[in-house]
Amino acid sequence: MTTDPFARFDTWFAEARESEPNDSNAMALATADARGYPSVRMVLLKGYGPDGFVFYTNRESRKAGEIAANPHAALLFHWKSLRRQIRIEGSLSFATDAESDAYFASRSRDSQLGAWASDQSRPLADRATFETRFEEMQARFEGKDVPRPPHWGGYRLTPNRIEFWQDRAHRLHERRVFHHTPDRGWTEGLLYP
Ligand SMILES: Cc1cc2nc3c(=O)[nH]c(=O)nc-3n(C[C@H](O)[C@H](O)[C@H](O)COP(=O)(O)O)c2cc1C
Repeated sequence: MTTDPFARFDTWFAEARESEPNDSNAMALATADARGYPSVRMVLLKGYGPDGFVFYTNRESRKAGEIAANPHAALLFHWKSLRRQIRIEGSLSFATDAESDAYFASRSRDSQLGAWASDQSRPLADRATFETRFEEMQARFEGKDVPRPPHWGGYRLTPNRIEFWQDRAHRLHERRVFHHTPDRGWTEGLLYP
């Protein structure tokens, strides 16, 4: 039997897309700064495969600063209606420029302009300031394609541990855990719930 966490991820993610009313690709991203102090926020999964899980963000945001200081991170999916969670741990690196360009180009024009207008995670005096910046970007790029801002792009989490948790009757939940091996394979086992 092949031990392949991605086959299981495919199945669970497909089922989540069917059952979750909103944002079935939403996942919590936990990072920690150089002191080891953690922080967590939601991001959207925009690509995945055996080489990892990809999301997009501002590379000058708080999370980006933490990732620069400490690339170790964790992802968490919780699909409430399915009573499942998936925990993924590993390290983060930049997605390729080609991937980031392609995904940026696929976004709506307003999202593209928003990426230029937002100083993500920095203090903002009032909402009107952001709206003014957005209008400035509308004027700047009027009649032109909006290029990907230099401070915006993808990150890929390359996993070394993936755990699938499934609710079962009488609290006999199932926890199935996969660990990455040095030869780029995976081992699989069960954990007490
Ligand atoms: C469901 C959901 C999805 C989100 N997806 C993203 C995303 O894909 N990228 C992103 O930069 N922020 C996303 N956000 C906003 C982040 O949670 C967060 O507010 C922002 O990235 C700033 O985080 P930071 O200050 O830790 O860098 C999302 C928020 C929610 C609630």
